[in-house]
Amino acid sequence: MKIAILPGDGIGPEITAQAVRVLNALGESFEMEQAEVGGAGYAAHGHPLPPATLALAKSADAVLFGAVGDYKYDTLERALRPEQAILGLRKELGLFANLRPAILYPELAGASTLKPEVVSGLDILIIRELTGDIYFGKPRGVRECPDGPFKGEREGFDTMRYAESEIRRIAHVAFQAAQKRGKRVTSVDKANVLETFQFWRDIVTDVHKEYGDVELEHMYVDNAAMQLVRAPKKFDVIVTGNMFGDILSDCAAMLTGSIGMLPSASLDANNKGLYEPSHGSAPDIAGKGIANPLATILSAAMMLRYSLDKAGQADRIEAAVKQVLAQGLRTPDIYEAGTTKVGTEEMGNAVVNALR
Ligand code: IPM
Ligand code: MN
Repeated sequence: MKIAILPGDGIGPEITAQAVRVLNALGESFEMEQAEVGGAGYAAHGHPLPPATLALAKSADAVLFGAVGDYKYDTLERALRPEQAILGLRKELGLFANLRPAILYPELAGASTLKPEVVSGLDILIIRELTGDIYFGKPRGVRECPDGPFKGEREGFDTMRYAESEIRRIAHVAFQAAQKRGKRVTSVDKANVLETFQFWRDIVTDVHKEYGDVELEHMYVDNAAMQLVRAPKKFDVIVTGNMFGDILSDCAAMLTGSIGMLPSASLDANNKGLYEPSHGSAPDIAGKGIANPLATILSAAMMLRYSLDKAGQADRIEAAVKQVLAQGLRTPDIYEAGTTKVGTEEMGNAVVNALR
């Protein structure tokens, strides 16, 4: 089985290195091949998603991705910015289903900004549609405004759209995921204002007819944002569009204390996938050896479970992570008085040791 390793920018290389060490400690014979992506891709090959990197990602059984982005690339034209690498990979590989679990480890209850009783035991799964919506809709751009009170001025515009089959397939993913968990789906939309999301609501309702054992609730996105911080444990599976999912998943991440703990999976129709931490490249702490590698290590566990059919190995990694947390080891993002502060590599060492 071949795994493409795409470390990217900022803390990406440091955290993926630890995940690779953990994978190597499992005693399996994975073939791993590394390539530049993001700012690193631009620096080495003049493009954030160099053709060789895309070819490697396409040929692999799974992709382990670090993070992309750095201040120094912010002034490049949009098509060359690091973010285009991850957007391009999602689109080119057809990774329409983004799974972002938000789980609060009991040991980290004090690291959340919310009261422990609000978040303790939290275990929700956000399923974000990842290849449609306003992120990819065309037309888009800047033009002379054709009509209305601002006619003749310049205007920026994007297009929100969802095809029926795009909504159907992500709804199936959500209902099937719910069948394996709490059997409840909350579909988040803005049906009160947007045509696209009234259509979304109608299609999700229709797909739900095939899943009599799952409860479906619809919620407007503004209310969902409020409920996520008010009573997050009321949710089981949340399914939503690309943009709302981007925003709500960051919000859900913070309930757990640190975005440095949260993995994600982006899957195509055949469970081929790209696995990355939910956090970004954190250029402010890059190279300091203090980034939390656990989100990437847990992403490697998701990869074993969803794409490589090795659920037992995924369980081993997740148990090892729980063990190091129980030992009191903490990177600075999750540090509290009374625990032991460690760096990126020490945290990786601890997980490798816990696997033995
Ligand atoms: C994410 C990120 C990306 C997104 C950016 C880097 C393009 O915020 O994965 O959530 O908006 O999807
Ligand atoms: Mn985001």
